[in-house]
Amino acid sequence: MLFKQQVWLRQKLLVLGSLAVGSLLYLVARVGSLDRLQPICPIEGRFGGARSQAEFPLRALQFKRGLLHEFRKSNASKEQVRLHDLVQQLPKAIIIGVRKGGTRALLEMLNLHPAVVKASQEIHFFDNDENYAKGIEWYRKKMPFSYPQQITIEKSPAYFITEEVPERIYKMNSSIKLLIIVREPTTRAISDYTQVLEGKERKNKTYYKFEKLAIDPNTCEVNTKYKAVRTSIYTKHLERWLKYFPIEQFHIVDGDRLIMEPLPELQLVEKFLNLPPRISQYNLYFNATRGFYCLRFNIIFNKCLAGSKGRIHPEVDPSVITKLRKFFHPFNQKFYQITGRTLNWP
Ligand code: A3P
Repeated sequence: MLFKQQVWLRQKLLVLGSLAVGSLLYLVARVGSLDRLQPICPIEGRFGGARSQAEFPLRALQFKRGLLHEFRKSNASKEQVRLHDLVQQLPKAIIIGVRKGGTRALLEMLNLHPAVVKASQEIHFFDNDENYAKGIEWYRKKMPFSYPQQITIEKSPAYFITEEVPERIYKMNSSIKLLIIVREPTTRAISDYTQVLEGKERKNKTYYKFEKLAIDPNTCEVNTKYKAVRTSIYTKHLERWLKYFPIEQFHIVDGDRLIMEPLPELQLVEKFLNLPPRISQYNLYFNATRGFYCLRFNIIFNKCLAGSKGRIHPEVDPSVITKLRKFFHPFNQKFYQITGRTLNWP
């Protein structure tokens, strides 16, 4: 009898213990996510557009955890009223490039900030004529739901190198903030090549070696017709943007440093965006298996970037690397001079 009672008591304690731990974990997750939704910094102005009932934030539930609980409550609660505040806002800042510079890492890391909401997909509104023809409302509808005090950020790296984009963005918002993340130009070009190579391999296709594409076999000079080389001439592209926007509207992120030491780079971006410093070392942890920093939202939610970020590059003939670095050098100097950010590339 006594034994049975002991077993019963032990089982009850076990159930109670599990319930307590479960509730605690739920509370931590919920508090963490709700905290991210507090309007914490006043940001001037707001892109208008009344929301119809049909837009009631079902999609919003997909981008911020924790709200589902409030939404399920049948009686109109304070939180539900707050859900009605959610809007789809045009971006206040855009990561315009550079492809393979670390654009995904930058967007995901900025999204750790409670006042930032990212557009998960690359929208390609300004660089794609077909999308652009659909109009600004189409673009706005592609944005995630956010509170008016938050800012939306999108990234489409093709913007940086596409001729028509600066004018189109200017027409939408001439005071928008523009983020450009750059890496040492030769490394970026090899990363760009690696991505294309992987695509070819996936389709069982063969592809040229990097050396063959980057160096013109007739002149033995750098092949400036090769897109991966042209994209890395940052100053040429930036000069086109400067016809529309003053340099103060750009912020240069050092993509090589973002890999090694992300926090100081993110703090510079917070400053540029006039956001209070909220991203901390707690939010970023080095994952030895991935060989990169990963993101920690709270004690439950963390994530690393997809495996397509951080590919192993093929070995490249050192003489080709030297030639490319020599080629990029004067363009880099000009880039430092224009932007006021020296990156000590070779
Ligand atoms: P590699 O694949 O050459 O290593 P983008 O997002 O613009 O395509 O950039 C991809 C690059 O982001 C990767 O290039 C990788 O080096 C870099 N990167 C920066 N921080 C990263 C992180 N925390 N996790 C994974 N990749 C990161």
